[in-house]
Amino acid sequence: MEKQRDDNNLIEVNLIENPAHLSPEEASRITEDFIGLSWRACGGKDWRNYDTGRSAWTRFYQADGNRPRDFDFIITVYKGLQLIYMTCFQLVKLTPSTTAIWCHLGMTDPQYQGTGNIARTFKEEHLAGTLAFFDKVEGQRFLVARTPNPIVYEVMRRMTKPFMPAGQFFPDIDPSAHIRPIPQRIRELAVRISEKLSSNCYFDPESFVLKGYFKEFGSLYHDYDFPCRNDAVTKYFEEHLDRSNMDGIMIIVDFGDSPDRNATVNLRGKQDISKT
Ligand SMILES: CC(C)(COP(=O)(O)OP(=O)(O)OC[C@H]1O[C@@H](n2cnc3c(N)ncnc32)[C@H](O)[C@@H]1OP(=O)(O)O)[C@@H](O)C(=O)NCCC(=O)NCCS
Repeated sequence: MEKQRDDNNLIEVNLIENPAHLSPEEASRITEDFIGLSWRACGGKDWRNYDTGRSAWTRFYQADGNRPRDFDFIITVYKGLQLIYMTCFQLVKLTPSTTAIWCHLGMTDPQYQGTGNIARTFKEEHLAGTLAFFDKVEGQRFLVARTPNPIVYEVMRRMTKPFMPAGQFFPDIDPSAHIRPIPQRIRELAVRISEKLSSNCYFDPESFVLKGYFKEFGSLYHDYDFPCRNDAVTKYFEEHLDRSNMDGIMIIVDFGDSPDRNATVNLRGKQDISKT
């Protein structure tokens, strides 16, 4: 991954299909970039003075299971030398024929949050490569995430259709800030997934709240003032999550039988953002 050092406007999209093969130098550079981006993305307006967040994210990315080489697929977007977006996925076997595709993290630089840039790049650049990664997973597949942020919930709900046309999204928060009925098989699956991903934390299969799952790393988020445009989702998060305990919601997308399963091509490379 050679970076363009002379053009600060060049957008570079990298799909890292085998993070385990990153050299130690690349892995350590990516770790530094992840810490910096997460610090900026979660540190509030005055992130530069939020040293607690920087230390917490450093602990996070140095922990077993959270290092770049521990992931199975990484997407990074650089603008010049600056990492402005990343997503990391991990594959977690639930049974011999069932796999959770764990969307471990997603971060956008605050300068670009809510601009729709990431959604657009996903459509144009990431979609095919990400679908190709999903397609390699055999058997029954579920996309899984954990988050304290209602915007992540909304992004995932919005992204379900293009990525998983037959996908079913859980928990589905309705306009009155309640969750629509969840099939028993999904509740049981959620319990199994929580035991795999967060074995030390209590998971409530009624509300889909995972208690204190980020706590061990310290204060990763400066505040929980997320400007989500969907008031019902914000209300649900406010009513059910104890922010001081670093609770999160578990999200599960059942892929169903995707008609697009083999209809993918592999796109990658660089594009000049001024032309988009
Ligand atoms: C969550 C996050 C990665 C979303 O990325 P983003 O670059 O802001 O997303 P985009 O602007 O491309 O929006 C993608 C889609 O998500 C939805 N969305 C984005 N911001 C939203 C908001 N504030 N409220 C509701 N929906 C929103 C929209 O549907 C949007 O698509 P559209 O503009 O075509 O309608 C980003 O907000 C972020 O980094 N947040 C802080 C860090 C964090 O909490 N990360 C998650 C750790 S688990």
